[in-house]
Amino acid sequence: MTRHLITSALPYINGVKHLGNLIGSMLPSDLYARYLRARGEEVLFICATDEHGTPAELAAREKGQNVAEFCAEQHQVQADLGAAFDLSFDYFGRSSSPQNRELTQHFGDILFDNGYIEERVTRQVFSIDDDRFLPDRYVEGTCPHCGYERARGDQCENCTRLLDPTDLINPRSAVSGSSNLEVRESKHLFLLQSKLADEIRVWVNRHQDWPVLVSSIALKWLDEGLNDRGITRDLKWGVPVGREGMEDKVYYVWFDAPIEYIAATKEWADQDPSNRDWKSWWYEAEDVRYVQVMAKDNVPFHTVTFPGTILGSREPWKMVDFIKGFNWLNYYGGKFSTSQKRGIFMSDAIDMLPSDYWRYYLLANAPETSDTSFTWDGFAGTVNKDLADTFGNFVNRTLKFCASKFGKALPEGGAIGVREEELAKALRERIDAYNVHMQDMQIRKAMQELRAIWVMGNEYLTEAAPWTVFKQDPDAAAASLRIAINLIRIFAILGAPVIPNTAAKVSDALGLNLTAGDWIEGDVMEELIRLAPGHAFEIPDVLFRKISDEEVAGWEERFGGKE
Ligand code: MF3
Ligand code: ZN
Repeated sequence: MTRHLITSALPYINGVKHLGNLIGSMLPSDLYARYLRARGEEVLFICATDEHGTPAELAAREKGQNVAEFCAEQHQVQADLGAAFDLSFDYFGRSSSPQNRELTQHFGDILFDNGYIEERVTRQVFSIDDDRFLPDRYVEGTCPHCGYERARGDQCENCTRLLDPTDLINPRSAVSGSSNLEVRESKHLFLLQSKLADEIRVWVNRHQDWPVLVSSIALKWLDEGLNDRGITRDLKWGVPVGREGMEDKVYYVWFDAPIEYIAATKEWADQDPSNRDWKSWWYEAEDVRYVQVMAKDNVPFHTVTFPGTILGSREPWKMVDFIKGFNWLNYYGGKFSTSQKRGIFMSDAIDMLPSDYWRYYLLANAPETSDTSFTWDGFAGTVNKDLADTFGNFVNRTLKFCASKFGKALPEGGAIGVREEELAKALRERIDAYNVHMQDMQIRKAMQELRAIWVMGNEYLTEAAPWTVFKQDPDAAAASLRIAINLIRIFAILGAPVIPNTAAKVSDALGLNLTAGDWIEGDVMEELIRLAPGHAFEIPDVLFRKISDEEVAGWEERFGGKE
């Protein structure tokens, strides 16, 4: 049987992630992991913080902390927020782990031995006042392409072009602001991607099932030609290269970060070595299907650079089978930005409303085919209509009415008729479609099916109208309420990957004990009569509350909106 390895792009350590990061990788990978577990599949779901690189050092410096301390603290913050959003990682690791150091050095060494890494003498910016080299973001200056004055040494934020620190006009140190800089020679390792380009292209072309967003980005990079890339830096924070003559160098963050997918699996296994075998997931792992989830800016590193690392190792490491890529979730048309603190951050969101509100809204509006915009109006509309009116209200009014007329147990009497047969048939079709979209990770389509299933329940109840039927024909009312309560069970099971907390509340109220492997398989009619007369239930508190216009106005005010 196939085992499923799932990784989310590793959130960078430099601060709390915003909702764009959440829907760009962590949340959809969680949805997929939860879905597969519910289908009884074996899943290993791995994530970690990406902790190296100059942005981490600069963020630590801004907080007056040393970088190791900063990373340890921020890792915990992100782990806690992940838990608050019910991200069901089997393990949430750290790219600064000893396991990653060892594996990164292994890949570096073996690529060197295989002739895919070589030493080159390069010209680096050196700050005389700071007495140090200034790689990547440690230098700021004017972009040579667009004239933006605050371009950083690795990339211009304005025109997005990749830069080398020596490209900048009027460079200055991001540490001290000093422009007393000079260019010094320094020996670095280069990954000879040009030698691997043909092989990477063959591998990319073998994956015809990848989303167009992903394969088009990969092919664009390959078509533009792969440059050999410097993969070391003159820094202290990072994985030390560990080669003679390179004592002061570390690997570049984008070299060690994806290796952390493997290393985090080892971190997981090292916690319980007699029961967990990391290598079987990654090495000669023919029975594993590996899925990666990420936003579009990460695609080149996962389709070209990291595969180059693996291919060049000439070792049988598991390579990704399917990549799900996302466009941007914007905030009122502009970018969410961690560094500019624009938009809604996971910590704000979870203080305002429970995670299921956000999970459903974000998944239902996932930026799959194009960039999309978060708006408070849109958020409130989705919550009020889908979660409060369609789902929550169905559960509460059904159980309340049943309790008031028949008591808190499924009532006896009445029979199943054509309406129920039709309902079962229509449900089967919807559930089949839901399964297909979940398997394909077509998230919006899956959410549309889930919503349509909730709507079908409401329509059934409106037509069966136990409220009015009750007076003349209590048996008929009882029969339709039994069906409706079974629908609640079905909703909870199907909704669990999306709104796990609420699904658990509902399943508690119905006295169910849902576990991994519970799903609606086979004959739906049987599922509609599964809970039999006499089965007791409780009435849960309101599952989803409505969001008022005043709240929307207040949030627009607080977070910035329309303008
Ligand atoms: N930290 C990167 C980002 O936030 C993603 C790294 S994914 C990895 O864009 F696999 F390469 F680590
Ligand atoms: Zn520019």
